[in-house]
Amino acid sequence: MKFFIDTANLDEIREAYDMGVLDGVTTNPSLMAKEGITGEENIKAHYKAICDIVDNNVSAEVISTDYEGMLKEGRELAKIDDKIVVKVPMIKEGVKAIKQFSAEGIRTNCTLVFSSGQALLAAKAGASYVSPFIGRLDDISTDGLTLIEDIIRIYDNYGYETEVLAASVRHTMHLIECANMGADVVTCPLKVITGLLKHPLTDSGLAQFLADHKKGNK
Ligand code: E4P
Repeated sequence: MKFFIDTANLDEIREAYDMGVLDGVTTNPSLMAKEGITGEENIKAHYKAICDIVDNNVSAEVISTDYEGMLKEGRELAKIDDKIVVKVPMIKEGVKAIKQFSAEGIRTNCTLVFSSGQALLAAKAGASYVSPFIGRLDDISTDGLTLIEDIIRIYDNYGYETEVLAASVRHTMHLIECANMGADVVTCPLKVITGLLKHPLTDSGLAQFLADHKKGNK
């Protein structure tokens, strides 16, 4: 399973990368704005800075919502670095753009996916990744994890190569359930990745080992 971090914060990306477990980064316009990154050139420079930290898979989202605009923007983003994956929203123009990017060898991440029908369209268009949003479905009393399970089954039925990238992952159990289901990737905040470290028996066991070592080495 690949771990992506869902942030545009360079310190958090470095921290996750330094743990040796990071496979990529997803950003979105809200995350970029949260870091105060504005203006075309600054945005591109920030994506480059992210690419310089990680080994691969940096999702950079287009802002345009028309076909031509998405193509122009996506091609520009892809030129920043080979690690860039162009993030495209699940709308009709987006599906067309994904198909074209795929023909051009530009990797894509189809975002804002909330149903299996949408995921099917993304796969048929040739998306490299599909991003179903678990947490935002949970927010409206709909089981986000069931959607992940359904998409995995549908893709398996037909052998689609699009990778299921579970997004809007809010806590460790979301991540663990995705792993149980066989999701290809999860993207989540740093605290979800570091949250996996925690177990009280690890803490108490380590404290005991260190105390026993100290006693024996007086
Ligand atoms: C996906 O790529 C999105 O950036 C993200 O996972 C959305 O998460 P949120 O619903 O917690 O904002």
